[in-house]
Amino acid sequence: MSENPAASDWATARGEKWRKQLSGMEAMLLPVDEPLIRALRLDAPYRIADIGCGGGGTTLKISRRAVAGSVVHGFDISPALIEAAAVRSDECAFALADVGTAPAPEEPFDRLLSRFGIMFYDDPPSAFANLARWLTPDGRFAFAAWGRPVENPWMSTIREVATEVIDIPPPDPEAPGPFRYAEDGKLLALLDQAGFGDLDMHDWRGTLPIGGGMAPAEAAQFALASFSVGDLLAEAGDEAANEVHRSLTARFSEHQQDGVVRMDACVHIFTGARAA
Ligand SMILES: C[S@@+](CC[C@H](N)C(=O)[O-])C[C@H]1O[C@@H](n2cnc3c(N)ncnc32)[C@H](O)[C@@H]1O
Repeated sequence: MSENPAASDWATARGEKWRKQLSGMEAMLLPVDEPLIRALRLDAPYRIADIGCGGGGTTLKISRRAVAGSVVHGFDISPALIEAAAVRSDECAFALADVGTAPAPEEPFDRLLSRFGIMFYDDPPSAFANLARWLTPDGRFAFAAWGRPVENPWMSTIREVATEVIDIPPPDPEAPGPFRYAEDGKLLALLDQAGFGDLDMHDWRGTLPIGGGMAPAEAAQFALASFSVGDLLAEAGDEAANEVHRSLTARFSEHQQDGVVRMDACVHIFTGARAA
């Protein structure tokens, strides 16, 4: 599995892996929902789509927060994740789609939102131009993407510790991956060219409970099982994997609060509207 999961990886192995870790992942990312949903301005009954909805945690939350009469859909490229989302509730309609290429629905959406699902498109200019057509002319969006690695030690520490033990090529900031839009100007330019206007970006900063609230050794296990670095380690053998687990446990121990590991995170929240 690549360290830079493209959409096709999510449709297969990466999606399966996310599903296995779903409850821990969703509990860990929960603090991001509130600022993201607030940025979506749910001030009337709307047709809303969560694009790259994963296992549907955020989608279900929106359907509970939306004004009565709203309709909420979730789309994802991973069959495993759509299956997991669909069995959770029938409050929302979940469907399999590559949102970067799927034609605009007959009835477009008033609101589009994504929690970390927009960094993996094979062809970002064309994917965002496609998504602009999914919106009504005055429709709005809110997208969350990670800030710079140095401001997200909860993720960068995993890589840092692993590179002390095995060779890992430096990340390619242009490739699909969590930090693709860490330099926010890159996404703002893409959105502008794609037909969105009234663009803005603000940061949410807070702490995330690793794995949803785990002690250091368990949190290290969760992190290595969840991220691609863990796959590279598995290839390197048990000795390397155990060494990294020990070091990561020690690093996570420095961030324990009330018995669980909580680490700083910075999330860019991009907002805007389909340009008239
Ligand atoms: C980091 S996960 C986030 C999942 C979910 N939004 C959450 O926060 O729990 C990224 C999601 O984007 C989805 N994704 C990536 N590329 C996609 C595409 N082209 N079309 C639809 N979904 C895509 C993945 O399958 C995955 O579920």
